[in-house]
Amino acid sequence: VSYNEQYRPQYHFSPPENWMNDPNGLVYHNGVYHLFYQYNPGGITWGNMSWGHATSSDLTHWKQQPIALLARGFPDNVTEMFFSGSAVVDADNTSGFGENGRIPLVAMYTSNYIVTQTLPSGKTVQANQQAQSIAYSLDDGMTWTTYDVANPVILQPPAAYSDQILNFRDPNVFWHSPTEKWVVVLSLAELHKILVYTSDDLKNWVFESEFGPVNAIGGVWECPNLFPLVVDGKKSSLKWVLMIGLNPGGPPGTVGSGSQYIVGDFNGTTFTADPDNVYSETTPPPSDSVVFADFEGTGTFADLDWTPTGDLVGQSPVNGTLANQQPVTGYLGKRLVNTYLNGDATTGNLTSQSFTISKRYINFLIGGGRDLENTAMYLKVNGQTVRSATGADSENLLWQSWDVGALQNQNAIIEIVDTATGGWGHILVDEISFSNSIARSQVANWVDMGPDFYAAQGYNGLSSNERVVIGWMNNWQYGQTIPTSPWRSAMSVPRRLSLTTIGGKPTLVQNPTENWKSIVPANSIVHDVWHSVNGNKLLGSVGKSFRVDLTFSDRPSAASGASSQFGIIVRATADFSQQTRVGYDFATKNMFVDRTQSGDVSFDSTFADIYYSPLTANNGKITMSIYVDWSSVEVFGGQGETTLTTQIFPADSATYAQIFSTGVATNDVDVRIYKVSSTW
Ligand code: FRU
Repeated sequence: VSYNEQYRPQYHFSPPENWMNDPNGLVYHNGVYHLFYQYNPGGITWGNMSWGHATSSDLTHWKQQPIALLARGFPDNVTEMFFSGSAVVDADNTSGFGENGRIPLVAMYTSNYIVTQTLPSGKTVQANQQAQSIAYSLDDGMTWTTYDVANPVILQPPAAYSDQILNFRDPNVFWHSPTEKWVVVLSLAELHKILVYTSDDLKNWVFESEFGPVNAIGGVWECPNLFPLVVDGKKSSLKWVLMIGLNPGGPPGTVGSGSQYIVGDFNGTTFTADPDNVYSETTPPPSDSVVFADFEGTGTFADLDWTPTGDLVGQSPVNGTLANQQPVTGYLGKRLVNTYLNGDATTGNLTSQSFTISKRYINFLIGGGRDLENTAMYLKVNGQTVRSATGADSENLLWQSWDVGALQNQNAIIEIVDTATGGWGHILVDEISFSNSIARSQVANWVDMGPDFYAAQGYNGLSSNERVVIGWMNNWQYGQTIPTSPWRSAMSVPRRLSLTTIGGKPTLVQNPTENWKSIVPANSIVHDVWHSVNGNKLLGSVGKSFRVDLTFSDRPSAASGASSQFGIIVRATADFSQQTRVGYDFATKNMFVDRTQSGDVSFDSTFADIYYSPLTANNGKITMSIYVDWSSVEVFGGQGETTLTTQIFPADSATYAQIFSTGVATNDVDVRIYKVSSTW
């Protein structure tokens, strides 16, 4: 493999061939950064999940290593796949795996069993069950032995969640020195819960506590990561950060997967979110929001009296009673309809209402029955479902919202549907509203506001204040159809994390961390300084792999009306028919990446889009660092408190760049472009 193919990342890790997803087992040991990753040894889409392996001494130049954990039975008869997990250095040999003074590395991963089977440990597992297993290495991570005499070491969730064995995954293990215990956090994906377990020896685990659901709860919760960081560099103020992947349910304006984080405290057994990191019904709605339906008398949604005959449009026989809008004390929101459905009751459209889409977000509260998760809400345009949401929690109604910026002025229908297949079910929807500014339903701390940063995980084995994370630079929405070959997917640039007080809150700040000196020549290939720029400034052909450092003055609000933007077009063809616009919108105070004309966008209907991320000026200046590679753009705004990661698939001839300023002139512009060399 030449690492020279069209779209091949030049300074981002990608496997030589085949499918890759999440980073796994990130551990630094003996001067070596290990990068394991979800890998299909037999194909270029997801399957046969194994742990691929690469190593580096500088997080920049990677050496491919043999597969660390090969799907059991591959290729003919796979019985167990190795899903995501993490790895630690067991320096004190607490596990007893060490021999002759050799320090064991221990990996904890999710065993995804393909068929019902009784394992060598004597434990019996069901088809598609997910359980947590361990493996160890006595040669510094190069070869691994699964702990078959006892695996899986966590066979199933706690009794209260024993029905969740198919969605119990992604152990993130670390050493907690204050309590001198190993801790693992893992996810009850469908329930939006993170479970905490502790252990003395990495083999015997005790369930300690649960956390969630909270804030963003779209789709499933996956790949949790819990780690400490000091605030503002002060050793005395330590906070813990919980990162959680959502699929789907990423940041507003994206489709598919994405990641949120929550800042709080962790005492070794329990994670407690900071109160100002929890957004609930009491979080004020955006000031421009218009209520469409709150089902308690106001709003323009068709009146719902929720009587058994009146509203169950298309609903087959319902046994039992429907109670009218029972308020449930002690819970958020309202129990709108309480149905009892027969074992095989058909699903039905409970109510619907048509309207014209006139604002960017549709916000609502939605919940559902715990066992049945049977509330669904659909947005339909021309009879096609364009957005959907399902309630996933039995008690709490949780905020969600749809970004419908691309559907303005279209006639649409909202449908509320009961999708239960039997048993008791609760249909819970409330407070549907429209707004243009980001809605409280999407108020979460987003790790990255772009579409292509997922399943991020931090390194174990670094010094206690050092956090470096790597994310999967792809999205489950279209990950398996991106037009690359013979590999699919790359990792993000490794990012050094810190917590900095911004807007009164400890905020995650990210800085790209590679051995830049080794791949970025000191002299820029472009350096322009303009007191004032109006219109476009062609920068010429700057290549396919480079970094742009951009600073400019904010505009006074009087000059920030519609189409008041400044930025740079990158990866443009000579005729600009292909181009990726990266810039700042002064009116909304967002940086953005517009990949609508970025090249090949044909493989998924949601790919051609514009992504926004809030960024405010610092002392009147806006700063953006833009990392461009052969098929990606990563933007770090301000100090790194806001990031946008997006893939692009431009033609090889798309090497041109141009500055643009729309509306009025932009002042005090400084643009520098540095070539980034290939690490391969
Ligand atoms: C996240 C994920 C994990 C799982 C892995 C399987 O991208 O779905 O939850 O462990 O991928 O490949």
